[in-house]
Amino acid sequence: MLGSITEKDSPETLIPKIIPQMDNLIMLKNNACFYPTFLSSRNDFSMQTFLHSHNVAVIASDIAVRLGLIDEEIQTIYELALLHDVGKGKIPEKILFKPGKLTEEEFKVIKNHSTYSEEIYINIMKNSDKPGIKKKAKIIRHHHENYDGSGYPDGLKGSAIPVLSRIITIADIFEAIIHPRVYRPHPVAQPMKLMERMAGNKIDKYIFKSIYDVLNSYICY
Ligand SMILES: [Fe+2]
Ligand SMILES: [Fe+2]
Repeated sequence: MLGSITEKDSPETLIPKIIPQMDNLIMLKNNACFYPTFLSSRNDFSMQTFLHSHNVAVIASDIAVRLGLIDEEIQTIYELALLHDVGKGKIPEKILFKPGKLTEEEFKVIKNHSTYSEEIYINIMKNSDKPGIKKKAKIIRHHHENYDGSGYPDGLKGSAIPVLSRIITIADIFEAIIHPRVYRPHPVAQPMKLMERMAGNKIDKYIFKSIYDVLNSYICY
């Protein structure tokens, strides 16, 4: 459970903490899981964020496979996606789980989570001898950049956004819209139509086009 994750954890120590929680979940293809209704309705940061992050990691690595990325990049995207929202642990739950519309000020607070996640990742990995930690941390940092430059934290646009971030963004948005949220009690009715509308503005339209059927295969029609 993410609640027991500390900054001392490495991706290797996270997995054994997460796997025992999988027993009661409804598994989909490639081990992505749907939230059982009783979990979706609870304001349980650790469980919800764990499920979301797990699913995003599975979907993002599935996309990476389809795009022909090498094994090392597929492993990297899985690990980074698993931690992309870990910074939400620093956001007050009353804002994170507010059922109504967020104020501008509250949204500003939520937006900090991507840089918090970046910092936590750097801390987790600081004793690692793996190369490129800061570069990988940037991939987490940029998971809310929009393809048209309207995202955060840096307003990066198009190919200036790291490609692994662009993949995580697609998996992240898709995962969110196929599940209920505290501010939206039901999943979006036609998720692929909504994704299509985001192509070119929120998400990379070229990547989306080539992985359309990967996402489509996660939907139970
Ligand atoms: Fe996020
Ligand atoms: Fe997310």
